[in-house]
Formats: sequence, structure tokens, C-alpha cells
Amino acid sequence: MTRHFLEIEHYSPDELHALLIQAACLKRLYLEGGLDPCLKGKTMAVLFEKPSLRTRISFEVGMAQLGGATVYLRPEDMGGLGQREPIRDLMRVLNGYVNAVVVRTFGHELLLELAHHARIPVINALTDLAHPCQAMADMLTIQEHFGELAGRKVVFVGDGNNVARSLAWACMKLGLHFVIASPEAYALPEDFVSHVQEETGPGRFSALQDPWEAVREADVVYSDTWTSMGQEKEKEQRIRDFAGYQITRDLMAATGKKSVVMHCLPAYRGLEITDEVIESPQSIVFAQAENRLHFQRALLKYLILTQ
Ligand code: CP
Ligand code: NVA
Repeated sequence: MTRHFLEIEHYSPDELHALLIQAACLKRLYLEGGLDPCLKGKTMAVLFEKPSLRTRISFEVGMAQLGGATVYLRPEDMGGLGQREPIRDLMRVLNGYVNAVVVRTFGHELLLELAHHARIPVINALTDLAHPCQAMADMLTIQEHFGELAGRKVVFVGDGNNVARSLAWACMKLGLHFVIASPEAYALPEDFVSHVQEETGPGRFSALQDPWEAVREADVVYSDTWTSMGQEKEKEQRIRDFAGYQITRDLMAATGKKSVVMHCLPAYRGLEITDEVIESPQSIVFAQAENRLHFQRALLKYLILTQ
């Protein structure tokens, strides 16, 4: 069966640890000036229906460093995903040309439909529901900073969105305590919470409303935009609803620990996080962005070479 990377929930803790070890090895080699051209002759298609800086560049650069090639297709090049021709036809054609497909889209169902017809790995580069590549690069960053993952407390302050979901799964699988603090109307849905709590992995999950209570003893305070791609029309309402959920110096001090702040970027300084916090020595946001490259190289190597 073809292995995809659609959400962290489908991977075992052992597989995730193996990917992190591989990512750390590739990073070390890269810092010493070496590359591992293990995907020479392989090609990846990148289909993005939303904007991207980090994800697109890190995938394309990562594939080049592994010796492979990339074909980038904008939705208009294909006449719209699922519009010019059915998804199953599009995927069956890609099966014959490339060795992996990296997709960023709106509805998660579209990604599942692509994967259903795929004989090559399909990688989720962000949907409205999940952003697993981000969460695993975040795990690599937390591991590097603290030396280990198990037992760390990660507090996500903000919207119960795609980034929060994947981060919750990563924490559950890898033994961290994931806490989310959101206004009631923006909490993670009940069905997600009960599903994630059924996970038998070593992690813990808690959901609260009060960010001050949530951040107590946090190792990591995590922030993302209050208005995700596709929600632009709700921006003004969301700014009002999320008042009190900004990451400030005082909120960081309320952890009572030598904590760090993380943000998947792009950041809207003055909204979900202050400029002062993102520029402070506690901020590891650019290490996080850099680690997208190393985690995704490990993922491409694993998925393409083990098919
Ligand atoms: N964090 C992240 O996925 O960034 P991009 O939207 O720029 O890819
Ligand atoms: N939640 C954000 C993440 C951007 C990387 C969005 O979906 O727009």
C-alpha cells in the first residue's frame, strides 16, 4: 500500500521518531557542507491552491538537495484542482509521471480523494484541517532546544485551527503535554477532542479558555494567526473575538519558566503576538522555519525510497 503523509495521527511514535532522527542526520550533514543525493532521478509535483513562502521553498530546495527535481503547478495551470478534469483522472495521470505529490488546498476531502487514487505518496502541505509538516518541524525544533521531547508542555494560544490540530497529534504521539487556550467559539471541536483523547500514545491533551491559566509552567508558548487563509472576510470580527489572546511579554513571564515562544509564521505582529516577543531571545521562530527544510527532506527520502 502506498504510504502518504496526510496527518500525524496515521503515524506511529516509532515512525515519527525515526523521521526526526533522519531529519537531524540530514541537518548535521548539511551543516558540515554535505548533501545526500538519494533521490537522483526522482521528481515531485507541487500543487498549491493557497499562498506559501516557507512550505513551497523548503520542499523545492529540499528536493534539489536530495538530487531530485520539482514541477510546480499553480491552480490556473491545471484549470483549477478538480475543475478542468476529475481529481481521479488528474491523479492517475500524475501516477505515471512523478514520484510524489505535495498539495496545499482548502478542503481536506480533496486531499483524501487525491490520496485514494494515488500510487505515489501524497504529502499534505496544509489543508483547512491539518498542517503536519509544520508540526513535525516544530518537534525537531523543540527537541533541539530542550534536548528531548517527552514531558514538555506546549501551550497553543489562539484559534483551534489546522496548525493546532497537527501540533496536538504530534504532542500526543511523542509524549508531550499539549494545552490549547481559545475563546469558546474558536475551540477545537468536540469530535476532534474526543478522538485525540482516545489516542493511546504517551502524550496528554487539555483544552482551556483562559490563556493565563494555560501558560503556567509552559516550556513552549505557541502562536498562529487568528485569521487563516480562506477566512479573510472574518478578519475584523476575529480581531475583536481574540482580544486577550495576544502573546505579550507579561504572558510569557506568566509561564514562570525559561520558556520559548514559537510561531509557524507568517506572523501578524501587534495582533496574535507582539513585535517585542517575536524579536526577544525567547523566540525560536526562525529556527522553526529553517527546520521545515530538514524535516521535509527526511520525509521525502522516507516516502519515496520505501514505496
Ligand atoms: N508556516 C507555513 O506553512 O508558511 P507558508 O504558508 O509560508 O508556507
Ligand atoms: N493557520 C494558518 C497557517 C499558515 C501557515 C493558515 O491556515 O493560514
